[in-house]
Amino acid sequence: MERRRWLQAAVLLCVLALCSGRELKIKRTPIYNSTLARTLAEYTSAVYTADLTQLFTWTCERCGDLTEGFEVIELIVDVKNCLQAYVGYASDMNAVVVVFRGTQETSVQNWIEDLFWKQLDLDYPGMPQAKVHSGFYSAYHNTTLRDGVVNGIEKTREAYGNIPIMVTGHSMGGAMASFCALDLVVNYGSKDVTLITFGQPRIGNAVFASHFNCYLPNAIRVTNAHDIVPHLPPYYHYFPQKTYHHFSREVWVHNVGLGSLVYSIEQICDDSGEDPTCSRSVSGNSVQDHLNYLGIGMHAESPGSCRIVTGANTVQCKMDNDGNIVFSKQPGLSADQLHSSQ
Ligand SMILES: *[C@@H]1O[C@H](CO)[C@@H](O)[C@H](O)[C@H]1NC(C)=O
Ligand SMILES: *[C@@H]1O[C@H](CO)[C@@H](O)[C@H](O)[C@H]1NC(C)=O
Repeated sequence: MERRRWLQAAVLLCVLALCSGRELKIKRTPIYNSTLARTLAEYTSAVYTADLTQLFTWTCERCGDLTEGFEVIELIVDVKNCLQAYVGYASDMNAVVVVFRGTQETSVQNWIEDLFWKQLDLDYPGMPQAKVHSGFYSAYHNTTLRDGVVNGIEKTREAYGNIPIMVTGHSMGGAMASFCALDLVVNYGSKDVTLITFGQPRIGNAVFASHFNCYLPNAIRVTNAHDIVPHLPPYYHYFPQKTYHHFSREVWVHNVGLGSLVYSIEQICDDSGEDPTCSRSVSGNSVQDHLNYLGIGMHAESPGSCRIVTGANTVQCKMDNDGNIVFSKQPGLSADQLHSSQ
């Protein structure tokens, strides 16, 4: 018994040594900031709030903690395609934060099953031989989201200066966040763009991934334990020219240890995008692991809802010809002023 205890302690020490070794490495090359990842995970969790007024006025249940004091400038709802994003100002980080929501289809399960069959059917403009999936691409580029997001970023930067932009999202929202971050760098010449996504699927081929890494060398894809989505659409290593390929860099969150000494680590993976020792070392067979990242819930309170809920009808929003909704405000205006301005 005593001997077993001792063994457990030794294992824990080894694991700790391994982890602190990693932290030392981080300090030299700050590729991954765990606090920032947690903060952006909280922003991502909030986008699943059903009541849009609460989200817009940052009074929702998930609006607080690390995201306290956030100011939403633009909230864009693409009703036809059931997509959503918001843009705002985080005073503590002095940054624009852009957040995309994942799919709200009736069943996450159906959406995941569909991922097996996604084709690399679109040439990414201006990048020879770079192929992506048109559905992921269009969800950002071919909907109201792109204009709304770009407009929101411009408004925020007009008010607060040329501050950094942080783009994030979960699941399908992570795919859109990736296209958005790339768009900002490639087409808008933005310099200071940070991208951290959670449980996103693959979005393009290896050529696309290498372009992506050039433009966004510090991008982070957080994956969780056995989450199935980062394993999709499938990667076929024996079919390198035709297969999907993740951009780097993955950070794999998973449990290590023995018995009662189990705890979670954030493993920083290699720069290949397809590190075989990270999430690819396990089978991606869990939907449950897709819905929770860093201990933060990444799903709607009620599943399968794509309805529009606005609590008290005190916030101004406008609807375009396609029935899409944009909540919008001038930066710096408080929620009280927002209400009384009606
Ligand atoms: C990590 O991110 C947090 C939150 O944005 C920030 O306060 C902190 O300075 C960052 N740490 C490093 C080492 O960049
Ligand atoms: C974008 O939308 C237009 C009009 O709906 C359509 O013709 C076009 O094929 C779409 N582009 C992509 C890449 O899906």
